[in-house]
Amino acid sequence: MPAIVLIGAQWGDEGKGKATDLLGSRVDYVVKFNGGNNAGHTVVVGDEKYALHLLPSGILSPGVTPVIANGVVVDIEVLFHELEALSARGVDVSKLLVSANAHVITGYHRTLDRVTERFLGKRQIGTTGRGIGPTYADKINRVGIRMQDIFDENILRQKVEGALEQKNHLLVKVYNRRAIEVNEIVDELLGYAERLRPMVVDTGLELNRALDAGQTVLFEGGQATMLDVDHGTYPFVTSSNATAGGASTGSGVAPNRIDRVIAVVKAYTTRVGAGPFPTELHDEWGEFLRSRGFEFGTTTGRPRRTGWYDAPIARYSARVNGVTDFVLTKLDVLTGLEKIPVCVAYEVDGVRVDEVPVSQSDFHHAKPIYEEFEGWAEDITGARAFDDLPPAAQDYVLALEQMSGSRISAIGVGPDRDAIVVRHDLLT
Ligand code: GDP
Ligand code: IMO
Ligand code: MG
Repeated sequence: MPAIVLIGAQWGDEGKGKATDLLGSRVDYVVKFNGGNNAGHTVVVGDEKYALHLLPSGILSPGVTPVIANGVVVDIEVLFHELEALSARGVDVSKLLVSANAHVITGYHRTLDRVTERFLGKRQIGTTGRGIGPTYADKINRVGIRMQDIFDENILRQKVEGALEQKNHLLVKVYNRRAIEVNEIVDELLGYAERLRPMVVDTGLELNRALDAGQTVLFEGGQATMLDVDHGTYPFVTSSNATAGGASTGSGVAPNRIDRVIAVVKAYTTRVGAGPFPTELHDEWGEFLRSRGFEFGTTTGRPRRTGWYDAPIARYSARVNGVTDFVLTKLDVLTGLEKIPVCVAYEVDGVRVDEVPVSQSDFHHAKPIYEEFEGWAEDITGARAFDDLPPAAQDYVLALEQMSGSRISAIGVGPDRDAIVVRHDLLT
């Protein structure tokens, strides 16, 4: 099973980092193909807790070659900071490869992210403020800076000049900020060149050769399906393709080489930032999920919005991504609830709708139609086989499986590395 994509099925923070880590010892490469340091993956290994942002979670597995592919936007200062922090904790980071085609987040992208959010006022997206959107905008607008540009001072200077010509007008005249000096940016980037040189390669070629040689490559998505710029709740999305298709364009590995698509889905739903969220709870149950699930952003520390499981969203994800297996996480968080509501469809203007509506305003108005399932009181964090789960927890999982469009192959029952029930091997 050589090429596997792992993505989030909801609005992020489903536990992709932990799921990647679970497979880490059995794969040769772990590839980040979209997003940047807006991601936040918490991985617990024994007594150690790691928070990864820009680096793929696979970096924690000895033997794995971590790859930052062309679809990622890279804040180089953050890159070195994360590498140093992991090194200091004894993690071997020497194998990291970075695509020569990946785009670079600069100081002006971070500034623009923050000022445009402020100017949006009530229409704010609630971005992570890391410069992600402006960097992808420059990429599409063909005024971006790529990793390879850093190795040629002339080209770098021309490109930064070109980019800043427009942006300084905007910063000074519209946003009332100071202009950014070309030299400030060029000197900073050139200062990284020597350290970057050994890790910057043609990652598309490297990955295709690895697949030719029968090695196993895991593509780890950042963000999630409902935050995808094409398939998510636009404009309340991130600026990249977080769905399975993004693994191809974001890495240079063709779609017909991908064998399996694993979607990570929480046993309830969370979202950080603004935008529609039909099953959101504003009551004590929302607070229950937030405090029991420790739902606070890994990147920004913001409290996550919380709500019940939304089956139409899972079905939508199964369809958009071609999901072969779900990993259901955080089932343990639901322990102690007497009844567990699950959204099975929506009501839009008095009409039952079974699928995620294509109209954004319909989705905004969609009221969840709930079905209730029996809860369980037993602690399930020690369960390692499906039969170890109480009957009500088994029934809950089977009901979600039946309505979510693909099989549930693994079930997370706690944050620890081994707190998982595997029903079907994810790699074979
Ligand atoms: P990611 O962005 O998808 O990698 O997810 P995050 O790391 O942002 O958020 C998931 C959080 O849930 C992390 O703190 C994980 O340690 C934790 N987690 C993952 N799986 C489980 C699980 O099955 N049960 C519990 N209780 N926590 C989990
Ligand atoms: P992981 O990989 C949850 C959200 C932000 C905001 C929107 C746009 O940990 O699941 P951006 O800075 O990307 O332009 O912000 O997307 N967002 C995430 N929410 N998990 C993430 O990543 C996210 N990355 C971005 O909160 O609403
Ligand atoms: Mg996260």
